[in-house]
Amino acid sequence: MKTAEVREKYLKFMESKGHTIVPSSPLVPENDPTTLFTGSGMQPMIQYLLGAKHPQGTRITDSQKCFRADDIEDVGDNRHTTHFEMLGNWSFGDYFKEEQIRWMWEFLTKEIMLDPSRLYITCFGGDDQAGIPKDEEAPRVWQELFNGVGLDADIADIGSESDGGVRGIREGERIFYYDGKKNWWSRAGVPANMPAGEPGGPDSEMFYEFPDVEHDPVFGEYCHPNCDCGRFIEIGNNVFMQYKKLEDGSFVELENKNIDYGGGLERLTAAVHNSADVFTIDVFQNIIKPLEEKSGKSYEDDEHKESFRIIADHIRAAETMIAENILPSNTEQGYFVRRLIRRSIIHADKLGVPAGELSDNTVVLAEEEQFRKTLERGLKEFNKMKTKGIKEVSGHDAYVLFTTYGFPIELTQELAYEEGLSVDVKAFKVEMDKHKEQSRVGAEQKFKGGLADHSEKTTAFHTATHLMLAGLRKELGEHVTQKGSNITAERARFDFTHDSKVERDVLDKVEDFVNGAIQAGAKVEIEEMPKEEARESGATGAFWEKYPDIVTVYKIVDSEGNVYSRELCGGPHVENTKDISKFGKFEIKKESSSSAGVRRIKAVFVEE
Ligand code: ALA
Repeated sequence: MKTAEVREKYLKFMESKGHTIVPSSPLVPENDPTTLFTGSGMQPMIQYLLGAKHPQGTRITDSQKCFRADDIEDVGDNRHTTHFEMLGNWSFGDYFKEEQIRWMWEFLTKEIMLDPSRLYITCFGGDDQAGIPKDEEAPRVWQELFNGVGLDADIADIGSESDGGVRGIREGERIFYYDGKKNWWSRAGVPANMPAGEPGGPDSEMFYEFPDVEHDPVFGEYCHPNCDCGRFIEIGNNVFMQYKKLEDGSFVELENKNIDYGGGLERLTAAVHNSADVFTIDVFQNIIKPLEEKSGKSYEDDEHKESFRIIADHIRAAETMIAENILPSNTEQGYFVRRLIRRSIIHADKLGVPAGELSDNTVVLAEEEQFRKTLERGLKEFNKMKTKGIKEVSGHDAYVLFTTYGFPIELTQELAYEEGLSVDVKAFKVEMDKHKEQSRVGAEQKFKGGLADHSEKTTAFHTATHLMLAGLRKELGEHVTQKGSNITAERARFDFTHDSKVERDVLDKVEDFVNGAIQAGAKVEIEEMPKEEARESGATGAFWEKYPDIVTVYKIVDSEGNVYSRELCGGPHVENTKDISKFGKFEIKKESSSSAGVRRIKAVFVEE
């Protein structure tokens, strides 16, 4: 079965259970520049999990393109990829645990014919600190299903790191409780890390066993589904999205109990083929096969496997990004395209793929050409270091080669090896960790999703930002569209298309427009309508071709029928613009250039 067929089977199966199939959102979240990439299927669905009405109903399914930058260094084993498609189904206050588990069972064991005796399940064992109880229901439903096909399925508390460690599986055990570190899902991780307003919940993960795969013997008798030795591969996660965190750190149950299911399409396809190696499926082999020919090396050869895998993952990811018009650069998303291509080139060189034959993609090839020049300069730098008469490349020099010249540590090691030098890898790692620590701060902030949080003030900023866009369009013209926004409880940052400085008197008028709308006590109304109708009615939106057929339009209108703003958006918004006034007067603090043809505004509320 090809990857596309597994995707189709899943979507059709969910459709048969009453779900509407919607297209994948883009890899770069629309209207959501606080996060660089979509990293899970639920990310574009947050507002609906929090209670907003989805225009296409309460049962939705899709296959979402995802990218997880954090996993770059893990690529090379049998199961990690940076880019993948996440199959997803959602219940927005519709069905819950029992239906979800039964459908998953039916899909896995009857539709794609996985062997139930190789399925293992994990469940949420409770979180005392957050005051959230153990999930008693999910294990029971699973147990009944296993027993129904004559399989033992004992439920076991497998232990946790905090109480002396996790033990190995015992005979007859199949369903395991883990703590919040493993079996709680929110974008921010464990309950304690979640920002106010964020939804999350206990989850139940499904693992498929590959008993014959050569797994890391370190774990031997201590092996359990989550031990990560390669014997068990996670093929899906059922999240019971039923809680929201409050400002005071406590949790409340959401009015709607939701389901957020996510499963890696590539891993599932590999499981269908009875392969523990995701890189054996068509979408990766289509990249690997031609490179085997060009390099004369074989994927089957253990010495080359890692390089083939890294190239297959990275090139596929880079090409998906390029197709979305994300081009190699030194900042934000573009930096990842660059990094992915550059790492691929290093590995292509290792394999002996001739220069210029890594891909047919012209953007990839142009980047390759440029990188080869950088490599040359890096080599000169390396040679300079060498002539200092050193015996060892210091951690700092290795770090400079990495950050300035794009030399991964393996390349430095290889060059050093040829020259009879060693490399202080330990010191290099220390430098890298420092660097990572610094960049993580940025990344984590970005990862918080749509808005920095869903607090009242951030929501007020969000509505005010929509009003500001309407004001800018009024003053500057219809060419003004949103390029990005980053909204916290302190300020709104907003990027828009316009190719010259916006003068202060114009900004004043925009401010007046926003404050006028706030004073008018305008209502925020939600309309659902066919996409074409919305477009014709003049609603503002930045990604028309990507929107589903039915869209949600937010209209800000006062009692006299004056429409202040009309935009496609997912919310959250205040109900009435009066709710914004308590935070003060809306003020544009700064207007500057962001990039070619894009301006940036910083706006705040000033108390009167
Ligand atoms: N949102 C869940 C995950 O990414 C399904 O694992």
